[in-house]
Parts: sequence; structure tokens; C-alpha cells
Amino acid sequence: MNYHTSVLLQEVINGLNVRTGYKYIDATLGGGGHAKAIIDRGGIVLGIDVDQDAIEFVKKNYESRIKNQELKVTRGNFADIDKIARENGFEKVSGILFDLGVSSHQLDSAERGFSYLKSGPLDMRMDQRLGVKASDLLNALGKNELYELFKTLGEEEKAKTIAQAIVEKRKISPFETTEDLISVLTKIYGFANITDFAKATSGKKIFQALRIAVNSEINNLRITLPKAIGLLETDGRLAVITFHSLEDRVVKKTFLGFETMGLGKVKTRKPILPSEQEIEENSRSKGAKLRIFKKT
Ligand SMILES: C[S@@+](CC[C@H](N)C(=O)[O-])C[C@H]1O[C@@H](n2cnc3c(N)ncnc32)[C@H](O)[C@@H]1O
Repeated sequence: MNYHTSVLLQEVINGLNVRTGYKYIDATLGGGGHAKAIIDRGGIVLGIDVDQDAIEFVKKNYESRIKNQELKVTRGNFADIDKIARENGFEKVSGILFDLGVSSHQLDSAERGFSYLKSGPLDMRMDQRLGVKASDLLNALGKNELYELFKTLGEEEKAKTIAQAIVEKRKISPFETTEDLISVLTKIYGFANITDFAKATSGKKIFQALRIAVNSEINNLRITLPKAIGLLETDGRLAVITFHSLEDRVVKKTFLGFETMGLGKVKTRKPILPSEQEIEENSRSKGAKLRIFKKT
């Protein structure tokens, strides 16, 4: 199975202005596709990922690159990027990449519970060491907290009805599987079956909201970008790929804030999007937005 197809690959390499012998951090290593492209251009990479599967995959598949000291791999949360960079001798780098969201491997692994198309435990932890799973949130949060979560992180219009239905359902039996959640959403939206659910846009945002909450995605991004800029040397680049509007808003605003503070320049007034050809070849690239900031 293909672990993950890297999106906007050439655009990232150009955006980072990768040069031979210079150091880069790939803060979301995944299957290592972007990291490999940076190394192929002569860069030296520190790869970070919270997911043990990603770390094991890259260690196995890029053994020679690691031996050659072109690639260093470490498990950790990019929220600790400053500490991780220091520990690995990457405290001044020429570029940092964040390719946010889930990998295809995570989505396609039923037992990880990320996908509404797969039946499995409602887990959604990118870091398997985390204590709280998506099912725990559904079983423990109050109705208003669930409403807030679905409204703010899912931008779901039926947030109130769904929160109410979840509280009712768990009185009978706790949420455990992706199907438990789908059956609630299917009833609310009146879908006949999972195929109808998969075709529609409604209801899916609940999965997104839970994933963002379980992994503290927005908060991690907010605290990490200022740390990342601190690690860049002059002319260094920050490249961030987002997959939904909440994340993109954070990146856009933070980059503008950096510019106002005189830290450098936003290189992408408008985000770079995948070409039609890329979307055709890899439908999961749809919705990706790449923004670049150059430190001065
Ligand atoms: C879209 S994939 C990256 C794919 C990668 N660029 C490639 O070419 O294969 C995102 C990866 O980021 C990881 N990730 C998400 N949030 C993270 C965080 N806060 N810290 C470290 N890794 C994270 C996920 O576990 C996942 O493997």
C-alpha cells in the first residue's frame, strides 16, 4: 500500500528554495515524500512526526538516507519544535515545512478511526500515546460543549441537533465505533445508507471537528508557527500546507502578523493550489493550500 502521495511537491521544493548542504525541518514527516524530495535536492532534513507508524515506515524505507546522515528522524509533536530542533542540532535552519492534516495511511487504516468510510474504533489519535480518543469526547462532553465543538471546529450547521442526538444515543450505549457515529448522523440528515452519506458534504464535518479536537490541531498550529520563525536563519522559508479553512485562516493571519512585526515577507499573497492535473491524479490533494513566508 502507498503510505501517502505528497501534495504540491514541486511547489514546496521551489517555495522552500532548497539548496545543497543546508538544513531543513519537515515537521510532518508522514511517509517521507517531501523529505525525500528535499534530500534529493541536496538538503539535510530533520523529520518529525507524532505517529509511530510514520516513524517506523520512514526508518525502514529511508535507511540509507539516514545512514548517510542526510535524514534524521524523530518522534515528537511539532508543538515542541524548538526543543526538538535544539536536541538534534537543527536550531538554525533554511526552511521548515508543515504539511498539515492526516496521511493517507492514517485515513486508510480502519483501526485508527479517522475515516467515515471504514468501520473501526472511533479513535482518531495521531499520537497513539494520547489519553483521549474521539469516542471519549462523544461519551464525556456535555451537550453545550459538543455543540461548541461541532460549531467552531466543524462549522456544522446542524451542530445543536447533532449534540442533542449524541447525548440521547449514549444514554442507551456508549459510542465506540465509527458506525455508532455514522448511524446518528445518517438519521439526522435522512441518508438512506453510507453511500449517500459519503456522497454528501453534510455530517462529515463532525468527523473533522472531532479529529481537530482530539489532536489539538488548531492550538498546536497557533503556538508552533512563532517558534518555527525563531528557528529560521535570514532568508529562511516557512512553508505550510493546509486542508481546511480554519487552519488556513490561522496561517494567513499569523504570516501577516509576522510581516507587520518586520520579521520578513509573505511570498504568497494568494495561496498556491494544486493544479487540475494533480487533483485528477490524487483526489486527496483537493482543498490543499500552500502559503510561504520568507524571513529577512
Ligand atoms: C499530510 S501527512 C504528511 C505527509 C508527508 N508530507 C509526505 O510527503 O508523506 C501529515 C502528517 O503529520 C503528522 N502530524 C500531524 N500533526 C502533528 C504534530 N502536531 N506533530 C507532529 N506530527 C504531526 C501526522 O501524523 C501525519 O503523519
